[in-house]
Amino acid sequence: FTVLVLNGPNLNMLGKREPTIYGHQSLSDIIAELNGQAKQKSIELIHLQSNAEHELIDTIHKGYQKVDFIIINPGAFTHTSVAIRDALLSVSIPFIEVHLSNVHARETFRKHSYLSDVAIGVICGLGAQGYSFALDAAHTYLTKAQANNK
Ligand code: DQA
Repeated sequence: FTVLVLNGPNLNMLGKREPTIYGHQSLSDIIAELNGQAKQKSIELIHLQSNAEHELIDTIHKGYQKVDFIIINPGAFTHTSVAIRDALLSVSIPFIEVHLSNVHARETFRKHSYLSDVAIGVICGLGAQGYSFALDAAHTYLTKAQANNK
């Protein structure tokens, strides 16, 4: 299976950025751990972090018919981007939305997501572990889907 991991704006600052909210681990640490987990499950992991909405959208489009599953932390685009929602729907690749922080325990504007209602699932508030849970869930989902298509 091929899984695309997408991280949106400001997530390149993980480790330095508001560590009491987002933790001390850098994004490269998180992705290195995720790569290890992917290898054990024979998953090919592709990762992109971008601060630019169009780059995230272009990468989603490039995944059409190549990527089996997307794990996305859209950062602040979660709360603003109809375009990222439409991009995910345009390729019909199943996805899980991940947030490090518990967006429901913060400012009111973080409670709404443009993606959650079209996601397979949403994980928030569990820190970096959320990505790991998402990868496990993606593997289970894809294994089941494969069995059903046989
Ligand atoms: C975030 C939550 C968003 O509200 C925020 O804008 C982020 C990070 C998280 O991982 O907790 O940039 O997606």
